[in-house]
Formats: sequence, C-alpha cells, structure tokens
Amino acid sequence: MTFKKSILAAAIVGTMAGTAAHAGEVEVLHWWTSGGEAESIAVLKSMVEDSGHTWKDFAVAGGGGDQAMTVLRSRAVSGNPPASAQIKGPEIQEWASLGFAADLSGVAKASNWDAVLPKVVSDVMKYNGKYVSVPVNVHRVNWMWANPAAFAKAGAKVPTTMAEMWTAADKLKAAGITPIAHGGQPWQDATTFESIVLSVGGADFFKRAFVDLDQTALNSDTMKQSFDALRKVTGYIDAGSPGRDWNVATSMVIKGEAAMQFMGDWAKGEFTLAGQKPGKDFLCLPFPGTDGSFTFNIDSLVMFKQKDPANTAAQDKMAELVVSKKFQEVFNLKKGSIPARMDMDMTPFDSCALASMDTFKSTAKSGKGLVPSMAHGMSTTGSVSGAIGDVVTSFFNSDMSSADGVAKLAKAVKAAQ
Ligand code: GAL
Repeated sequence: MTFKKSILAAAIVGTMAGTAAHAGEVEVLHWWTSGGEAESIAVLKSMVEDSGHTWKDFAVAGGGGDQAMTVLRSRAVSGNPPASAQIKGPEIQEWASLGFAADLSGVAKASNWDAVLPKVVSDVMKYNGKYVSVPVNVHRVNWMWANPAAFAKAGAKVPTTMAEMWTAADKLKAAGITPIAHGGQPWQDATTFESIVLSVGGADFFKRAFVDLDQTALNSDTMKQSFDALRKVTGYIDAGSPGRDWNVATSMVIKGEAAMQFMGDWAKGEFTLAGQKPGKDFLCLPFPGTDGSFTFNIDSLVMFKQKDPANTAAQDKMAELVVSKKFQEVFNLKKGSIPARMDMDMTPFDSCALASMDTFKSTAKSGKGLVPSMAHGMSTTGSVSGAIGDVVTSFFNSDMSSADGVAKLAKAVKAAQ
C-alpha cells in the first residue's frame, strides 16, 4: 500500500520531531467533540494535568473518526505525529508495524494489565505480543435508543424484532412522529447496516461476512435480505437526514421528535448529559433481533514514540491512568460505555451499562454472539471497512437494487483486500 511506503520514511523523522515538544507534554488526537464525548475526554485531561503533565488537546470533529484519521495520516507523513492518538482495531497493528507505536510493556506489567483486561480487549491492544495501545472502554454498537413517550403517543409497541419494528414505524409515521432518527454520514449508514446484518444473519454470519470477508457470505441471499431491510429504513427517516451529525439525531429522540435511533452507546452520553434517565425518559434495547449478541467497539489510545524522555514519561503516566479503576469509572459513566477492565464495582452504573456488561461477559465466556464492529474499524482494515461503507452509503442514497448492492459489496471487498 502506497500510504505504508510514504509513511515508513517519515517514521524516522517523526521520532526526531518529538524533541520540539515541551517536557512532560502529551498531545492527544481524538474526535470526541459532541456534548457527552467532550465531557468524557475532559476527565482524562484533568487527570493528566493533576499528575503534573501538560495536556495539548487535538480534537478533530467528525463522529466515527474518519476525519481524525485523515489528519493523523497527514501529520505522520509530514514527520510530526501527535504523542497520542485514538486508533482502533487492526489499525493499531498497522501503525505499530510501521514503527510508530511506543512499547507500553513496562507500564502494562507494573499495572498488571494482563490480569485485569479480558483477552478480547488485550488481544486488540497488542502487537507481536506487546502492548502498544491502551483501552479506555468497551462500547456496544448494536443498540436501539427509544423514546417511550413517542411510542405511547403513537400507540406503538417498542420492537424487539425487525417485523415488530416495521409495524411500529408505520404507526409512528401515521402519528406524525419521525420513526427513525438518522444522520447522513457513511459511518452512520454502516452502523445501521451492520446491526441489520447481525439481526438477519446472526453472529456467525456476521463474522463470515465482516471478519473472514467470505465471498459466499457477502454474495448470499442473507446479505440481500439485509439490503432489503436497509432500504425499508430509508422510508422511515426524515428529509433532514443528509449531513446530520449522530448527536443531532440523538437529540431528536431526546426531544421526542423521533422515536428511535440505531447507534452505539456513546448515544447514552447525550441522554445522560440531557439529564434523562434510562427506563423512564429513554430506553436502551438491543437492536431488534440481536438480543444476546454484542457488537464490540473498543476505544483506545496509541502512544507515538517520543525522543524527549519527559514526554515518554507523560505518555506512560497517561497510559497508567487510563486503565486505573478511577478513570474507567468516571470516564465510562459519562461516555455511555462500560469499563474495559472486568474487576470493577458496577454499582454506580445504570441499567443500560449493567445489561451491556452482562451480555459482554456472557458472550465472551460462551464464545457465541460476540462480534467486532465493522462500522467502527474493529473487524477488518480501514481500507476494507471503508469500501464496505462506500457501497452501503451509495445504496442508502440511491435507488440501487438489493441484488446490485450485494454484487457491489462482494466486489468492493475483494478489491480492497
Ligand atoms: C466511534 C467511537 C466512539 C464514539 C463514536 C462517535 O467510532 O468509538 O467513542 O465517539 O465514534 O463519535
């Protein structure tokens, strides 16, 4: 890949460029700019500052992080990567293989990460058996967020299956309520699509399609049915959707203008910030037909190698803080996710987080139903998930047939591999 080549040369320059930073400074690239996200990252900032180091904020707006990753690549190519960046899934290994990622083995050993993190998390954080990334949380993607008052007003039942969902959506529409709050960005379309695929095909099918990239699964009738369902979704969203940010869509559910949203539990950060309570003002339910499955999305920070030992010390301190029980509690209460470590007292967490933790643990134990999110870069490389996202989005925004969607999907995945 050409990016790989151009960046290899820049890697050496990048390490040297670290000397320019102030001692004990850590510059953090992230895309947490919605209300709930900003509150969450502020927790890390103040903990880093309390430990005596300097925090340099490098926020690049854009849910899902596409823009942030573009900016990161250009900073890296010009030999000036930030000290730390939010990078996820297989992309972590890609950056590590290019020689950028600092080895966090020392702090990992001192804080016993192997013992406190579940294998499904620690595996993602390592490159060649060494920690090169630090997990901040575990997000569940296959959620549906619902406004119970909107459902009641329309006399509709909150759905647990896709068949029920269409029935409810018709009633909501008739009552003048937008059934589905949706934004207009490729990653949001992909987020809805992967939940549909999980519902239609189940977890094993999801893995064959989005992890193994199996052509038979991608070309299957199950995939065609998934596109059919995605087409139906387009009939239940409002005309204002194009270009809309995910958190604006969430606010439509908060206000009761729309009845439901399909989004990961970062959406809960917005409900929480608005003072709403789960089970009362809003409901969190598995995406219809995916109860017992868990699409995971682990946010993590990669540290870029530094020349100045003071900056390396700041990075190590931040890594240590991120896995600490205190950070994992305070941050995740605001972010909507669950802690990445499994030995936490969950008493302060709400019913959505408890349900999430239960399903995470049970699916991890049984080995059934736990799948990495494709839409959030956990299941495959950025080029493959980007290619899938492009097809899904062009399907969503045109009158493409499901048969064409399937054919284009299978072809795009092959080409991107
Ligand atoms: C995801 C990320 C979440 C959340 C979301 C919307 O990719 O993992 O933490 O921030 O994007 O921005």
